[in-house]
Amino acid sequence: MPQPHLRTTVVLAAGEGKRMKSALPKVLQPLLGRTLLGHVLTAAGPLGADRTVVVVGHGAEQVRAHLAEIAPAATPVLQSEQLGTGHAVRIALDAVPEASGTVVVINGDVPLLRAETVVALVAAHEREGAAATVLAAEVPDPTGLGRIVRDADGRLEQIVEERDASPAQRALREINAGIYAFDVARLRDALGKLSTDNDQGEEYLTDVFGLLVSAGEPVGVHVAADHVETLGCNDRVELAGLRRLLRDRVNEAWMRSGVSILDPETTWIDVTATVARDAVIDQNTQLRGATVVGAEAVVGPDVTLVDTVVGPAATVLRSHAVGADVGPGASVGPYAYLRPAARLAEGSKVGTFVEVKNSEVGAGAKVPHLSYVGDATIGAKANIGAATIFVNYDGVNKHRTTVGEAAFIGCDTSLIAPVEVGPGAYVAAGSAISQDVPAGALGVTRAPQRAIEGWVARKRPGTASAAAAERAQAAGGPVEAVSASEGEAIHGGAETVGGGLTAGDTATE
Ligand code: UD1
Ligand code: MG
Repeated sequence: MPQPHLRTTVVLAAGEGKRMKSALPKVLQPLLGRTLLGHVLTAAGPLGADRTVVVVGHGAEQVRAHLAEIAPAATPVLQSEQLGTGHAVRIALDAVPEASGTVVVINGDVPLLRAETVVALVAAHEREGAAATVLAAEVPDPTGLGRIVRDADGRLEQIVEERDASPAQRALREINAGIYAFDVARLRDALGKLSTDNDQGEEYLTDVFGLLVSAGEPVGVHVAADHVETLGCNDRVELAGLRRLLRDRVNEAWMRSGVSILDPETTWIDVTATVARDAVIDQNTQLRGATVVGAEAVVGPDVTLVDTVVGPAATVLRSHAVGADVGPGASVGPYAYLRPAARLAEGSKVGTFVEVKNSEVGAGAKVPHLSYVGDATIGAKANIGAATIFVNYDGVNKHRTTVGEAAFIGCDTSLIAPVEVGPGAYVAAGSAISQDVPAGALGVTRAPQRAIEGWVARKRPGTASAAAAERAQAAGGPVEAVSASEGEAIHGGAETVGGGLTAGDTATE
């Protein structure tokens, strides 16, 4: 039994988009977080259609696979030959014999369309009891588009494609946006009468309007408030133009909701990202995918975040992050690289030229400079010295390293996983640690230092070094070799981390 008022949305997505010159079907081109098709389906979402039919053709397998991901409830219908938009809709409706009431048809290449506009189109259509209603817009440059031809009383007469239009019709700047509402029964009837008598020899959906008018059926034109919403794109230059327009729309919305965007022209926020109040987005920053930026966080300049969560009041400066989680008040960069499952707890720091992957950096812990942290758990308040490498890969498998709470890793250390440095333990700078260091112990693997007196004079005579050594000796006798007395700390050179414990420590403990 046919259901009453089974509302249907049809999206036309079978075209190739020749001028994109791409292996990707046009509707799969990406635009700030969604494909063109994804944007159109999102705009159609609030219609709450019972059935959504997507006509696929060029790259059908790719489009189907994408649909399965983003709109599993939609029904793809194959149009194996692209014989025109009218033909496409006919095939779509064959797949939904039970459709009744209003059917909405949307071209798949109109990504800036807003949901409110589609909803308003359908409301006007149903209010007027029209057989068909087209979304129109007055545009500065109508080149290539179908024109809305009205009679002396301003009523729609027909829609004429540019290539079939008279010079007078071409001068019209009111265009067909490619978005329509139809009464499905009257649409089916008119589709059966379409001819291919036009410049392209195709069945034009737009001809339905002329047919309905001739039959005395009521048709309507709904004019979009903002023509930008109706812009399609045929090549990559136009796609870039749409991307800029969408960028401006997205940035404006965030600024109006209380986000500071210091340079909107160089800030690119995907429609899928979110930013909380009083966050500051500095210039040349991209927020992609499911990225979330918390209140009062400062991101940028020169930051790209993909699917990354930045907590409240955190800062991220000149860095790249993918699938990372930056805790509240944490500090990242400049020049950090956070990879998937890098999780930085509250108040932690990942500094300059540091890469972190699949690791937890505990609350208040610091990895300030020149380090690789992979497959590690770093406890709260631990301090990881400059140039520490978490050696996680044996060529076949990855292994984990654990650094306990408030442990202190000296500079230029290799922690060779699997290994554990206990809470409060120290590791001397320059060590290669492959065995566990117990809580509170010092781990050190350094060879004792030797000083071979007079080596430079013998082996490097005539060099600047030899001359400098000679002058120093003439001035004050030989420079003392470092004496390794217990408890003397010789720092490793990094500002924040010592860990340059003396060889004497090893000898005596
Ligand atoms: C169409 C309209 C034009 C309107 C413009 C708005 C027609 C005849 N013309 O022209 O009046 O101003 O959109 O952008 O409808 N498609 C199919 N199967 C086909 C042909 C097209 O699925 O056989 C799909 C395309 O993938 C695209 C949409 O329909 O998503 C529109 O087709 P396109 O070739 O871009 O039509 P336009 O020439 O832009
Ligand atoms: Mg088009």
